[in-house]
Amino acid sequence: MDKTVRININRESYELELEPNQTLLDLLREQLGMTGTKKGCEIGACGACTVIIDGEPALSCMTLALRCRGKEVITIEGMAENGRLHPLQEMAIEHGAVQCGYCTPGWLLSAKVLLDNNPSPTLDEVRSAISGNICRCTGYQKIEESILAAAGRSLPAPAPEGESSPRV
Ligand code: FES
Ligand code: FES
Repeated sequence: MDKTVRININRESYELELEPNQTLLDLLREQLGMTGTKKGCEIGACGACTVIIDGEPALSCMTLALRCRGKEVITIEGMAENGRLHPLQEMAIEHGAVQCGYCTPGWLLSAKVLLDNNPSPTLDEVRSAISGNICRCTGYQKIEESILAAAGRSLPAPAPEGESSPRV
């Protein structure tokens, strides 16, 4: 396979010389200095390395860079546009959904794909969209709250004991 590939990253075209075993995560962090994509488990378990490839969330630690030939990749560095934070980023700040921040780029990008496809998701749909993004700090409630807020919604009131959470 030709080792030179063109990949569109954050709306810019890059021509890159790649090694056959190089992951997209290493390409972003080591070769391009885009360290917003976090390196966690490197075995596809934590979601810290999530990026968007052709409109779908993808684990960059499990994706060979060469496989991204001709594809459109969005990382956290490309989430703000024209100098403005994405509403998900604004709501994450407003709702205090960031503690250590290690999981934040990953779940923000998973949530972006959700809202791009479903602008008014239920809480269950939010939970499902970020189910691959492990957060050890927040307990998820503020993350869920901030995603719903970016969609113009709020968390449902807690269900009375013995009942499951209502859908929103
Ligand atoms: S670093 Fe990729 S899933 Fe954990
Ligand atoms: S904010 Fe620390 S892992 Fe999520």
